[in-house]
Amino acid sequence: MLALSLLGLLALSTPAVAGDVFVHYMGQGLKAESAAGDVAKAVAMGVDAFALNIGQPDPTWSVESTQRLFNATKGTKLKIFFSLDLYATNDPERFRKTINTYIKHPNYYTAGPSNLPMLSTFSNGNGWTATSWNKFRDSLDSKTYFVPMFDQLPNYYTNPDAFWSSWKTGVDGVFTWEQAWPGRSNTHQNVSTDLDASLMRKAHSNSKAYMTGLSTFQYKHWDGSHWYRSGDVVMPEKMTQLLALSNTAGSRPDFIQIQSWNDAGEGHYIGPLRHEGLDEKQLVYANQNDHPHEGWQPLFASFIAAWKANAKDASQMRTPAGSRTFVVGAMWHREFLATSSCAGTDGRPEGAGAAVDTINWAVVLNDGVAGTYYVQVWSGGSLISKEKLLPGLNYRAVRGIKTGEQHVQVVDAAGKPIIEGGKQTKGILANPTGNICTYNYQVAGLV
Ligand SMILES: *[C@@H]1O[C@H](CO)[C@@H](O)[C@H](O)[C@H]1NC(C)=O
Ligand SMILES: *[C@@H]1O[C@H](CO)[C@@H](O)[C@H](O)[C@H]1NC(C)=O
Repeated sequence: MLALSLLGLLALSTPAVAGDVFVHYMGQGLKAESAAGDVAKAVAMGVDAFALNIGQPDPTWSVESTQRLFNATKGTKLKIFFSLDLYATNDPERFRKTINTYIKHPNYYTAGPSNLPMLSTFSNGNGWTATSWNKFRDSLDSKTYFVPMFDQLPNYYTNPDAFWSSWKTGVDGVFTWEQAWPGRSNTHQNVSTDLDASLMRKAHSNSKAYMTGLSTFQYKHWDGSHWYRSGDVVMPEKMTQLLALSNTAGSRPDFIQIQSWNDAGEGHYIGPLRHEGLDEKQLVYANQNDHPHEGWQPLFASFIAAWKANAKDASQMRTPAGSRTFVVGAMWHREFLATSSCAGTDGRPEGAGAAVDTINWAVVLNDGVAGTYYVQVWSGGSLISKEKLLPGLNYRAVRGIKTGEQHVQVVDAAGKPIIEGGKQTKGILANPTGNICTYNYQVAGLV
């Protein structure tokens, strides 16, 4: 009994880790200057590595873009590791050549007690067992640190003990993708780290690492799928919950993966969209001119810095290094109301009932700044909300919106704007124009 509980204690007190933060990066056709631009932006945000999603290892565009990305990391702090897309290519063997080409690259990301090249996955690969993965990994040119996304495998959520008895010998950690968003539903849902906390405890008690996802929202219009999950303030809410896990769950995930940098088939991208590698059909619902999402980046930079400094509360978030002033933020909204007609288009997405009509904002205010500051939300020409800011991360989904221009300002006590944004977005229309009923967000940085 005593020996057992002592073991449990030892296993639970896994050594503190750096808490590296990654971004899921979709492999796509990519110009060299786009690769260089993405690497520079990720470095500026404090990202440690791109989790490079390789869906098709063989086509020339894929081989060349992978090379361009690795080339672009040379001499920078940014690393890359592979996220083998087993949903697109179910056979890990097909990735052998790509893995071996880069696994010893100076910018290939390494981690774990033996500092080995990290290998991850998107999806789980049908029919592969701990034994077959071990055999595959043993045959690569280097040993690897394997933290796959296996959250769709049997028992992952429902019977973690059974999951771990199948997988303990085959993985170094696990990655939970789906908890980045609330569940799929036709009514509004909030995001939660409750499952992360229990999955993390189980992983840690098996002396394995735990990685979880952080995302903005989910709107997918691609590949025969068209669906939406509650978005609004999911991103700042999960940031708050993740920072609090050290207190609420007694430890925190070893790694965070932001979902995603550039997945234009879905709406959650935070990087610039590089049109040269995107399909025309993707660009209809997500393109850099109509739906830029980079306004979110300062919030991620602020979160990453706080996370890496072991902050335990979102009130400890600060403006990123190099910020113009003592406050940063963003606002975002859909282009039309939940009641708008999507007649003449391909209709509302599945889960559209979860959409609420809100102007969403998140703002980070530095501590110890003299004066009192407020966020004002203007919708269709009316001031619909004014709230006082506290130090650290503040956020709100403001209801009562009207069609027309949407504008968010941080103002001082005299009403003078410090930062603001929104006038550059399309505003909110009564009905979708043309044939497009997109639930993708308009995002504006407050500058
Ligand atoms: C990557 O860099 C190498 C060495 O400079 C160069 O030979 C190669 O052409 C580059 N690859 C691409 C796809 O640009
Ligand atoms: C979601 O969170 C909001 C704000 O905390 C709360 O008012 C609402 O009841 C929650 N909704 C659900 C479905 O839990």
